Amino acid sequence: MKALAINASARKDSNTAIMLNKVLSELEKDGIEKELYQMAGKKIHGCTACYKCISNKDKRCAVDDDIFNECFEKMVNSDIILLGSPIYFADITPELKCLIDRAGMVARANDFLLKRKIGAAVIVNRRAGGIHGFDSVNHFFLIEQMIVVGSSYWNIGIGRNKGEVEKDEEGIKTMIDLAHNISWLAKKLK
Ligand SMILES: Cc1cc2nc3c(=O)[nH]c(=O)nc-3n(C[C@H](O)[C@H](O)[C@H](O)COP(=O)(O)O)c2cc1C
Repeated sequence: MKALAINASARKDSNTAIMLNKVLSELEKDGIEKELYQMAGKKIHGCTACYKCISNKDKRCAVDDDIFNECFEKMVNSDIILLGSPIYFADITPELKCLIDRAGMVARANDFLLKRKIGAAVIVNRRAGGIHGFDSVNHFFLIEQMIVVGSSYWNIGIGRNKGEVEKDEEGIKTMIDLAHNISWLAKKLK
């Protein structure tokens, strides 16, 4: 079993990465392989609506000029996908939206490549908008026929400056409980 966490924050190794790592470390204790992929500083653009993925059916986006295909290949090769984002103006970052739109289209064009993989959103906000971002990610998982795992609270951490999320005890507990639920399900599905 492999878990991939994609951090769509513009800041590397910051609050979103910290929360994703809390989940990954806990999964690792249960023997699950882990990878954290950070999008910060890398270029990704949105779907151009060329629909070539639908005719090509080659498991790739036809517009191969950024990190999309690299990210998507990692998603396809993982059993557990964590999508992490800070909240920017009450929603996920534009980078994560670009990834979701294109991954959604390419996966569906190829007989639902992400179907029945385990998915979980990991969100960080300073004050508000977390639930909206959480919902945005879950809409993607659910329409891809993925299995969304819950926790003891919605998977949202609180923090503004780099590292501040470490003070959010309940948020950290939520990530650990999430990891335990993912592990439990992963073992059942094995
Ligand atoms: C452009 C921008 C917009 C933001 N909008 C919100 C917001 O709507 N609500 C909120 O609570 N925090 C907002 N924040 C704060 C971030 O969500 C917060 O700093 C978060 O911890 C950043 O995660 P990171 O450390 O992984 O980058 C915003 C930050 C930026 C840079």
